[in-house]
Amino acid sequence: MSTHIAAQPGDIAPLVLMPGDPLRARWIAETFLDDARCYSEVRGMYGFTGTWRGRRVSVQGSGMGQPSLAIYVNELFREYDVQSVIRVGSCGAMTERPAVRDLVIASGACTDSSMNRIAFEGLDYAPVADFGLLRAAHDAATARDLDEAVHVGLIYSSDSFYPARPELSARMVDYGVLAVEMEASALYTLAAKHGRRALAICTVSDHLVTGEETTSQEREQTFGAMVEIALEAGLAQS
Ligand code: HPA
Repeated sequence: MSTHIAAQPGDIAPLVLMPGDPLRARWIAETFLDDARCYSEVRGMYGFTGTWRGRRVSVQGSGMGQPSLAIYVNELFREYDVQSVIRVGSCGAMTERPAVRDLVIASGACTDSSMNRIAFEGLDYAPVADFGLLRAAHDAATARDLDEAVHVGLIYSSDSFYPARPELSARMVDYGVLAVEMEASALYTLAAKHGRRALAICTVSDHLVTGEETTSQEREQTFGAMVEIALEAGLAQS
C-alpha cells in the first residue's frame, strides 16, 4: 500500500495506461481489458489491472495537472516497480495543424510549471519521450489507417487551463509547439529520474485557434483508437 494508491505489491502491471480522468480509467478497463479488477479507489482516483490480448496491463487515473500526476507516477515507480507509463489524454491545438480529433504524440514537453525549475535550480531540463515507445506508437498509429492525422512533436504542459497571460502561449507556438495539455512534462521527467519509459499521446479535444470542439461521441471514438495504439506500443516494448 502506498499513500495514494491502495494496491498490494504485484497488483499493478509493469505497463500502466494513464488517463487524467479516473472515469476514463474505468471506461478503458471495462471496454478493453479482460478480467479487470479495481485495485484502488482512494480519492476516487481509480486504478484497474486486467489483460489485453493475454498480457497484463493496468490503467490508473492521474488527475489534472502535474502535481497530481506526479503523486501517482512517483508511487507507481517507487512502490510498484512499474516500467512504462503511457499517458492517454486530451490536448488543445495551438496551431492550424493539428485539427480537432487528430492525435499528437509528444516527442517532448515544454512547461510553465515550477516543478523542474525547483528541481534543476537555474538549469533547463528537456523532458522527452522514450524513443522506443514513441516509435512503436507512431508505427501502431500509422498502421491503423486512421481518419485522423497523427502528429509527432512538442507539446506544452501548462499549470493553467485558464492562463493569466495567454500571450505567453504564442511564444511556445513560435518555437514549434503544437498543443497544450497539463501533465506530460512531469511524467517524462519522473520517468527519466527513475530510469523507466514514458510517453504521452493526446487527442485534440479543442482548438485554440479555430475554437472548434469535439462532441463527446467523437471524443470517445478517437479516445478508443488512442487507447489501442497505447496498448500496442506499450506491450511491443515490454
Ligand atoms: N488547455 C490545457 N489543457 C487542455 C486543453 C487546453 O486548452 N484542452 C485539453 N487539455
